[in-house]
Amino acid sequence: MMRIAVFVSGGGTNLQAIIDKITSGEIKNTEIALVFSNNKSAYALERAKAAGIETRSLSAKKFNDRDEYYDRVVEIVDAYDVDLIVLAGCLMYIPPRLIEKYRGRIINIHPSLIPSFCGKGYYGLTVHEKALERGVKVTGATVHFVDEKLDNGPIILQKAVEIQEGDTPELLQRRVMEQAEWVILPKAIDLIAAGKVKICENKVIITEA
Ligand code: GRF
Repeated sequence: MMRIAVFVSGGGTNLQAIIDKITSGEIKNTEIALVFSNNKSAYALERAKAAGIETRSLSAKKFNDRDEYYDRVVEIVDAYDVDLIVLAGCLMYIPPRLIEKYRGRIINIHPSLIPSFCGKGYYGLTVHEKALERGVKVTGATVHFVDEKLDNGPIILQKAVEIQEGDTPELLQRRVMEQAEWVILPKAIDLIAAGKVKICENKVIITEA
């Protein structure tokens, strides 16, 4: 059974998709051992509690020393003995020490087709505003491994979503979540739990075997 920790910061719709697909059996051989947030008010924590999942939250604001905060976050995660960390709507800076310790075992969902509309400043609604501003005809979402650079690690899955006439950033964000994020993040977790995801020369190979 693969044990996962899910990092959240906001509404938790991606977390809910993971919870629902574990319940439905679409995600196999996986249990959520911990939902962690840097924001104690994140509604995602309520979703976890409603599902009977252990939650922890810790804000950096409580610490004068950032390093002390990051050490504490690592300690919390280590205590749950997880195989994979899933960043799901997570707006928290992931410290290099966590990336190093869990290299190749942290994944993130980004609401665009990386390498478009990603990197510093590209999160949440801004991503969709920029996509509409640029006039792209297709956008989507990406699940990738996390490394020290923002939105930079090997890409696991992507799913395209067409821009529609009259799209606003809000309408587009919702469609990307519904049609892409909530599909490929659970799928990526299921593939990893099944041992079907390998990284070779910094590229992801998915074996159907
Ligand atoms: C989503 O667009 C996700 O891609 C981004 O944060 C937004 C909210 O995610 N990272 P959630 O509802 O908290 O899962």
